[in-house]
Amino acid sequence: MYRHKAAALACVAALLCAAACRQDMHNQPRYKPLASTDFFDDGRSARPAIDDTVARGQLHLDDARYTGKENGKDIDFLPIQMTRADLTRGQQRFNIFCSPCHGRLGDGHGMIVSRGLRQPPSYHDPRLVGAPIGHFFDVMTNGYGAMYSYASRVPVDDRWRIAAYIRALQLSQNATPELARQNSTAAAGAAPGGQQ
Ligand code: HEC
Repeated sequence: MYRHKAAALACVAALLCAAACRQDMHNQPRYKPLASTDFFDDGRSARPAIDDTVARGQLHLDDARYTGKENGKDIDFLPIQMTRADLTRGQQRFNIFCSPCHGRLGDGHGMIVSRGLRQPPSYHDPRLVGAPIGHFFDVMTNGYGAMYSYASRVPVDDRWRIAAYIRALQLSQNATPELARQNSTAAAGAAPGGQQ
């Protein structure tokens, strides 16, 4: 009987030990966010970034791609590769983020405008047809007049995809009959059975 008691006690002690070890791991020494400390001279536990360090994926050396400008001027070329899939994504992003005001055709007749919000200019206005593509990137990045910035919602490369899609919209809405004929002949030639 006595031996059983001793064994039971040993078991409980072992269990308590194990629990204590786990507890140690749970209560590691740490600071709550922005708590003060006397360990560093400036009294802050949150350390400022060391000068000239760059977080992974944040080294934006390519001005054209990240600002849409070179030497302070809007660029007139696409700084990223644009495949058919990119353009389709641009169309999708445009329809989500821009069409409520600018309309699916980019003519400024979006649904929100019909409910009384300020009407944006048409992308088919000669001024915007002639504007360098960097201008569209710039408007999305920094906002323009009454339009607010989309930088926090549309990532950099998606902004280029949207800009490229706006160019496609401009082309489609101003296409000459010759251009349409050329393209349909090319498409018919390329498609299987297109010659019938
Ligand atoms: C909430 C409505 C709204 C949305 C959404 C919106 N815009 Fe605009 N946009 C405007 C208005 C209003 C103007 C005119 C601003 C002014 O002239 O003060 C404008 C102007 C513009 C212009 C013309 C700038 C110029 O040079 O005149 C461009 C380009 C443009 N927007 C692109 C976009 C793109 C791309 C998106 C989607 C990422 C977008 N906008 C989303 C309201 C909107």
